[in-house]
Amino acid sequence: MEILTSPGAMRAWSREQRVLGKKIALVPTMGFFHQGHLSLMRMAARHGDAVVVSLFVNPIQFGPNEDLDRYPRSFTKDCELAGQEGVAVVFAPEAADMYPAGFQTTVSVEQLSRSLCGADRPGHFNGVTTVVSKLFHLVQPDMAVFGQKDFQQLSIIRRMVRDLDMGIEILAHPIVREPDGLAMSSRNVYLNEQQRRSALSLSGGIALARSLYTDGLLDTAVLKEKVREHILSYPGTAVDYISFVDRSSLEPVDRADQETLLALAVSIDGRVRLIDNGLLVGTG
Ligand code: PAJ
Repeated sequence: MEILTSPGAMRAWSREQRVLGKKIALVPTMGFFHQGHLSLMRMAARHGDAVVVSLFVNPIQFGPNEDLDRYPRSFTKDCELAGQEGVAVVFAPEAADMYPAGFQTTVSVEQLSRSLCGADRPGHFNGVTTVVSKLFHLVQPDMAVFGQKDFQQLSIIRRMVRDLDMGIEILAHPIVREPDGLAMSSRNVYLNEQQRRSALSLSGGIALARSLYTDGLLDTAVLKEKVREHILSYPGTAVDYISFVDRSSLEPVDRADQETLLALAVSIDGRVRLIDNGLLVGTG
């Protein structure tokens, strides 16, 4: 496995692969790999001939009071894990190379970036779409894999690819969970034992909404209150949002149906913000 840090070297490597007729599959990440990331790499390997994993803690998608400085990092271990998954290249650029002095160009997906996490984290999705555009330009992949854990991010990337004719196939991977239901996340490492128990309020809230929906409760205002009560019954939890939205438009819906997605963001002890989501008819 090669580790490339220079954008120029990355571009040259991709050019060679494409000349050889290889299909490149990109998995963009911020590192500190867990089984979710590794499953994305496996999916990329099933669909492409050569897998590139980008590992870059992207400063411009963090707000001023967010966790950029304490975001967990473990570069050596990550490279080892990626190597075991048959990844061809880990691309780990420096921030100074990605954002040279005077940098001022961004990519913005307007409407989809405003709701849900966009409302709580102004500028976050512009940071994501900008860095993903840059990665797409540098790596020139045929396809890229994203996780449904970040459902809004996935929708925004799909929109961007369509709107700007990027011609890259976007593959979605289902949410990978711990055995007790907690969605895997690099940020779970922030949780102490008590907070880890409270983190189950998210998957528990989704399970509750699913069972109420299956029993015929379709009014999302009522569902929302039930889910809120459930989440708040765990110590230290505060609800950032509970939203029942259409899976395609991400617009809120009053009456649930099989296209309805429940999206949640919960803060624990005001320190750790977790997100989760699921279709009401789904299981993942
Ligand atoms: P990061 O949080 O490292 O996630 C990288 C990819 O892994 C994303 O597509 C995310 O949805 C996916 N992922 C994370 N946890 C998952 C889980 N439990 N199950 C399935 N997929 C999971 O998302 C980012 O990085 C950044 O915003 C990035 C796209 C790299 C841009 O900087």
